[in-house]
Amino acid sequence: MTTVDVDTVTFRLNGRPVTVRPDHPHLLAALREELDVLSAKDGCSPTGQCGCCTVLVDGKAVVSCQVPLARAADKTVTTLEGIDRHEQERFASVFAAHGALQCGFCTPGIVVRVKSLLDKKGAALTRQDAARHLGAHLCRCTGYVKILDAVESLAMGEQPAAEALCGIGSRGIKYESRELALGSRGYVDDIRVPGLLHGALRLADHARAKVVRIETSAAVAVEGVVAVLTAADVPGALRVGLIHQDWPVFIPEGGCTSYLGDVLAVVVAETQQIARSAARLVDVTYEPLRPITDPQAALDAPEPAVWGTDSNQLSRSAYHRGDVDAALAGSAHVVHEVFTTQRVEHAYLEPESTLAVPTDDGRLHVFSGGQGVWDDRSQIASVLDVPSDTVVVELVSNGGAFGGKEDMSNQAQTALAAHLLGRPVKCTLDREESFRISPKRHPIRMEYWAGCDVDGRLTGLRARMVGDSGAYASVGMKVLERAAGHASGPYVVPNIDVESIAVRTNNPISGAFRGFGANQAQFAMEGAMDRLAEAVGISGWEIRSRNVIEPGVVWGPGQVMDDGSRGARRCLDAIKPHLDAAVAAGRAVGIG
Ligand code: FES
Repeated sequence: MTTVDVDTVTFRLNGRPVTVRPDHPHLLAALREELDVLSAKDGCSPTGQCGCCTVLVDGKAVVSCQVPLARAADKTVTTLEGIDRHEQERFASVFAAHGALQCGFCTPGIVVRVKSLLDKKGAALTRQDAARHLGAHLCRCTGYVKILDAVESLAMGEQPAAEALCGIGSRGIKYESRELALGSRGYVDDIRVPGLLHGALRLADHARAKVVRIETSAAVAVEGVVAVLTAADVPGALRVGLIHQDWPVFIPEGGCTSYLGDVLAVVVAETQQIARSAARLVDVTYEPLRPITDPQAALDAPEPAVWGTDSNQLSRSAYHRGDVDAALAGSAHVVHEVFTTQRVEHAYLEPESTLAVPTDDGRLHVFSGGQGVWDDRSQIASVLDVPSDTVVVELVSNGGAFGGKEDMSNQAQTALAAHLLGRPVKCTLDREESFRISPKRHPIRMEYWAGCDVDGRLTGLRARMVGDSGAYASVGMKVLERAAGHASGPYVVPNIDVESIAVRTNNPISGAFRGFGANQAQFAMEGAMDRLAEAVGISGWEIRSRNVIEPGVVWGPGQVMDDGSRGARRCLDAIKPHLDAAVAAGRAVGIG
């Protein structure tokens, strides 16, 4: 049988022969984009790092974004859809019973891997063996313990009972766990609508540069390209933002890029592959400028780092109580140290995706994986210059957010394309685009002066924080405000003086991430506590116990603590025996 020719590739998929176009970049693209087989998810193609697209090829588990289509010719490809129905249900119920999934984006790939291991080893499959093979799969939500619990149950033929939800405190199974485990609960990129067009973004080549010219003719000329849209096509507001409207949805000719995630154009085409390759043909002429990447240098710089803004200081949050200078001068021990934290990427397994569909009643229905449908709606309406009640934004539960996905990523550009073309348009970021566009956790430099008396009771604290907020505001000012509020950790300090500054630079944008600035401040304060304990000559647990908040005390910025603060003491008391046992056993342990 001839299975590869210039026009087609043929292989067996889930028990039946299929024929596809030969120009897909890999097997995953053929499965998802032409055959609408959607259980295999695209988390990072074509890099083969996440494992979400795992399928069986001739019975062997492989990441399908690493399989060139020609290599699939004549092979037998099995996806989750092709596994025996009873086996599917068993995988789904055991994963659900063990709580072995959360967002579920990684789960179908893991289930396929587990099936291949069970097919090979059956009841002899050990936890250690499975753990080794799960190294090919990234899971950002669940952690691997529960997944390995599920694998063990499957290998041993157990059927743990999944408990039904019966109110607060019950251990119910996760909503939609069956569909998530089997890959049938659609994410935005899984939604299929008739007449769909695909969008791809042209991102900036320089973190800071004047945009002299955007030449789209080469992209427009590509067969299958329907339109190339730029800032010149925006009928309404060019800038959006959750708090400050400072984030351009496109950088126009005559404007300046301010970070590497800036968008210059969106190419709309009949297929995703055409859109992406044509986006590379949008030719941009720049006058590069020196990027300002050091936050302190940005504060000292005379010129704004970010186009359209007038200051590199995004915000300043400050408060003080008592006399810190006198308190530190009279302290038995004082530590002075600089703590720095690094930028952190959320790395949600599902890259951002938006689908915009014009509806018969003249409205625009936008499917978004963001966190705030009302914010998305008002921002999209402002860009399109239409009444907000003509835009409907529907939240589609996403493949992980971890406190991020609050800002729009590609929602405005996708909505614009659908609005202007009168056709459904979907735009899904690849992994690199997601990394470049999405806001991160703030790197913060925190200089601390902390004092205590001879018994280790805190006397005074001064903190100076400078956080790198990157180019656009996002919620950076609120993150640095929260960092300031948590400067003293869960401890009582009678004299306190805190200043926290968010700075604009040409680095990646920093925004919301779980903990929202408190994490960084806690890291610094716990470090200061360890150093003070050492100076006093008491344990890290003891100094925390002597200073921990309790109901009635005044904390940090001035709140009077109520019963809700009792958890800090309970936490300390709960870990004490475990800490003592670990120290007695000679293990390296710390607390914070
Ligand atoms: Fe694994 Fe979300 S459940 S990444």
